[in-house]
Amino acid sequence: MGRAKQALEANGLVAIPTETVYGLAANALNPKAVARIFEAKQRPSFDPLIIHIPDQSKLDKYASQIPDKAQKLAEQLWPGPLTMVLPKRDVIPDLVTSGLDTVAIRSPRHPLTHQLLQSLDFPLAAPSANPFGYLSPTQPAHVADQLGLEVDYILDGGPAKVGLESTIISFSDPSKIELLRAGGYPREEIEEILGQALSVRTHSSSNPRAPGMLVQHYSPHTPLLVIDADEKPEEADILKHIQQVGEISTARIAHIAFDLSKPQPNWASSHYKWSENGDLRQAAARLFALLRTLDQMKYDLIVAERVPETGLGTAINDRLARAAARS
Ligand code: TXA
Ligand code: MG
Repeated sequence: MGRAKQALEANGLVAIPTETVYGLAANALNPKAVARIFEAKQRPSFDPLIIHIPDQSKLDKYASQIPDKAQKLAEQLWPGPLTMVLPKRDVIPDLVTSGLDTVAIRSPRHPLTHQLLQSLDFPLAAPSANPFGYLSPTQPAHVADQLGLEVDYILDGGPAKVGLESTIISFSDPSKIELLRAGGYPREEIEEILGQALSVRTHSSSNPRAPGMLVQHYSPHTPLLVIDADEKPEEADILKHIQQVGEISTARIAHIAFDLSKPQPNWASSHYKWSENGDLRQAAARLFALLRTLDQMKYDLIVAERVPETGLGTAINDRLARAAARS
């Protein structure tokens, strides 16, 4: 912790554990420190960053015009996997927000990072600690493998408990509250507290003003085919996704199931599962690490089953769809 604090105070880059995924953190108030994040990740500067604060009491320091409903969510869901987009105050550099007049803010739940944030007199800007577009890191080794040379220190907080990035909602339009990214808090839970439905903004990679919600993201290098749990894909369809393999019998295909009651498909050479017993929380916690492991095993194809669209399932299926998209 001491080394993390020291490095951050010297405008360095530190990988921090959060309950969602590991973050690549720097002093959010210092544009030079923030610039290093974009360089290390090779992240386009039109994609704004989330700032991390220790608790709700600091919200007003970095955001303005905070509606009562935002305060209510902070009160009930922070620290935790909820990010709120609000009008920004001038102390937040333009580089953090990509020139937008709003800032994304959250208070993470991991005890080490919570302590670290309390000990600093500035907030931390932190995207997920992966090269832009690749699977998000949920373990310190994931960060070391890919950004080990870029970061000054990795604060080891063990595997991430939630495993999915925070849910992002926006208060930038006073007439509605928008869901920008499904994530670690299910939408239903947030709507219940708000007493109103969230509206959903549609994003596209052709519209960079809908930042970060790119159609392709979170992707392994191995081709990935996402199917419904009750879907039986045709051999021809599977082969279409594999490069340079002519026959299904010689292809190395990994299959990830959610529903374990069905027979294992015979076209798969190895079988994996999202969870032991149909638990969506376990599936979420396993999602990125399992895809990363299979990616390293160099299969010809990964075929992954979607999970039910309830609770965390929505966010899991969202990540799977983006991971499978090829631009
Ligand atoms: O769980 C998380 O949120 C993790 C941990 C490290 O906190 N962070 C994370 O950051 O997922 P990142 O950079 O991978 O994703 C942040 C998303 C981006 O898609 C970005 O476009 C969006 O937040 N975002 C940031 N500021 C925004 C703003 N002012 N308006 C709209 N979207 C914004
Ligand atoms: Mg990310």
